[in-house]
Amino acid sequence: MIQRNQLDLRKFVVPEFICGYGALQLAGRYARNFGMKQVLLVTDPGIRAAGWADAVGESLTEAGVPFTIFDAISPNPRSGQVMAGAEVYHSEECNGIVAVGGGSPMDCAKGIGIVSSNMQDILTFEGVDRVPVPAPPLICIPTTAGSSADVSQFAIITDEMRRRKIALVSKALVPDISLLDPRPLTTMPLELTVDTGMDALCHAIEAYVSNASSPMTDLHALEAIRLIHSALPAVIEDPENLELRFSTLLASLHAGLAFSNASLGATHAMAHGLGGVYDLPHGRCNALLLEHVIAANYEAAPDRYDRIGAIFDREPGEQTTPAGEIAAFRRSIGITATLTELGIRKDAIPTLARRAYADPCLVTNPRRLTCEDIERIYEHAL
Ligand SMILES: [Fe+2]
Repeated sequence: MIQRNQLDLRKFVVPEFICGYGALQLAGRYARNFGMKQVLLVTDPGIRAAGWADAVGESLTEAGVPFTIFDAISPNPRSGQVMAGAEVYHSEECNGIVAVGGGSPMDCAKGIGIVSSNMQDILTFEGVDRVPVPAPPLICIPTTAGSSADVSQFAIITDEMRRRKIALVSKALVPDISLLDPRPLTTMPLELTVDTGMDALCHAIEAYVSNASSPMTDLHALEAIRLIHSALPAVIEDPENLELRFSTLLASLHAGLAFSNASLGATHAMAHGLGGVYDLPHGRCNALLLEHVIAANYEAAPDRYDRIGAIFDREPGEQTTPAGEIAAFRRSIGITATLTELGIRKDAIPTLARRAYADPCLVTNPRRLTCEDIERIYEHAL
């Protein structure tokens, strides 16, 4: 049954995507179709070492499209790396971008695109709808099942001077096409599989309880949660299983379609705070915060959280929040540390909370949180 507030007007932005075995090899054909004469192939050293950047390069060469590789990208990509990539894009006279990698290369590629078309510093695009000129064509090939940068309107870049993550949200950041191939996922290390899987779970849960959710985003969010619950523990046991890897990739896709349109919530606002100051893996920050945010948010959306709890085998009619089930799931896939064990000190919490409070992701959190509320949540996660 559609609820009254779900009649609100909603926009649903989705890029073209192709999913299935061998999708990666279509990069060259699409680059040519988009009229790319010189491609900037954006990736990172790990993906290069695993051979996936070469595989994409071969596809470009077969299609007769020359390319230049830019791989000077770290996890939690930095503003300076985006600007360096834009320099290469300009000096090599590129007119299109192909990104292969996880969230970091894809977010960096998005940044390079809008810097190149607008000739402005990446930090000037912080916030919602701040990109005046559309980016050049962008083809994304995700190699993790978590960030969903390949379908989303988001890019997260670290402002290295101020050591904080900025969120850029704009339709101009939606790639032109995503090529979703399960094969690159098979070379992901266990830790990355787990962290990115928990990131996808956070995307789906936060989108489902978001103030900007809609019947369309609910559909994708719930399917993502269901798929992650079943496929993520299984893929850890059998990492080279292509069917299982594909299930996690589909989960990430569904989660991406949901959160790109319904936005996120306090978990992401708080994880961005942590990631900026401590340079920690984004998915791990989310994983350690999620259950505490659920406990804090529960009363604002009990029916929705109960439905999530049911997917995680919570007994119907239980009088507690599903935070316990989510925590048990996290531990079952090997995430057992606390924020303290990751090096976060209590005296850093006021600064972290102020940053989370200013993050655009907080706007759609189902409960309106004060800075003090956010401090309490961080403290619970220590
Ligand atoms: Fe995320």
